Amino acid sequence: MALKDYRTALVTGASSGIGAATVRLLAARGIAVHALARRRERLEALAGEGDITVHAVDIRDRSKIYQTLGAFDIDILVNSAGIGSRFDPFHELDPDNIDATLETNVLGTVHAVRAAVPGMVARGRGHIVNIGSIFGLHAIGTSVYGASKGAVHILSQDLRHDLKGTGIRVTEVSPGRTETEIFATMTDDLALQDAMAVGFSILTAEDVAEAVVWALDQPWRVNVSLIELTATEQIPGGVDIHPVAGSE
Ligand SMILES: NC(=O)c1ccc[n+]([C@@H]2O[C@H](COP(=O)([O-])OP(=O)(O)OC[C@H]3O[C@@H](n4cnc5c(N)ncnc54)[C@H](OP(=O)(O)O)[C@@H]3O)[C@@H](O)[C@H]2O)c1
Repeated sequence: MALKDYRTALVTGASSGIGAATVRLLAARGIAVHALARRRERLEALAGEGDITVHAVDIRDRSKIYQTLGAFDIDILVNSAGIGSRFDPFHELDPDNIDATLETNVLGTVHAVRAAVPGMVARGRGHIVNIGSIFGLHAIGTSVYGASKGAVHILSQDLRHDLKGTGIRVTEVSPGRTETEIFATMTDDLALQDAMAVGFSILTAEDVAEAVVWALDQPWRVNVSLIELTATEQIPGGVDIHPVAGSE
């Protein structure tokens, strides 16, 4: 079940960044791609680049997601829709932003999977790719975003148990810092947004999309369950060895 054996894909978060790059790569490989996000004009600009169908849908609109994803056969589901939670200190976080982060990154992913799998089970084949994050694998800071991506991590790993025997493969691709529009969801500070894209050569959206397609292109006997992908100069984890002032 390599990529050539799949015919259709649905990519969420398709209007920019990793999702858009994945749409382009899949379309270039002959897959009929359904591109889903909120910004219709962005999706329509992409639609000229191949066999791409546009769905301007908010991933948090549960009934619309079931209606949209239940309307056609999906061989490949790539869950890339996501936002970064705000950079504010935890004790100053806007409760609405906490909800938006968890509803988009966690509930959006869970319901998209739930909506797509019945058809996959009926046809005996399918491949789910969830875009996680190094924030879901390591304690780095920004705990609400980390919690959302930690949920995507264990969802992806548990789905392998839950879907065993159905013919559905599950892959989690967890990137480090990648140059996309996501920084704008974390802070309005343009200097800080720029600062996140410098200092070392960060990943491009295409780097991550290539990893997605590589996992999809493996022969049937191979399930790539987790890819952690970072810039060469970004090393997650480690211990904070700097003492806090006044703690000695
Ligand atoms: N960039 C990084 O450093 C990085 C690192 C690790 C993981 N990730 C993950 O990678 C995934 C893609 O993000 P990106 O970096 O490519 O950022 P991006 O360029 O901001 O793309 C995010 C996508 O999600 C869509 N989206 C956001 N909220 C949505 C909603 N309510 N309904 C439908 N679509 C929604 C956006 O489209 P609309 O605004 O048009 O709806 C956009 O297409 C996310 O899950 C993110 O957490 C990113």
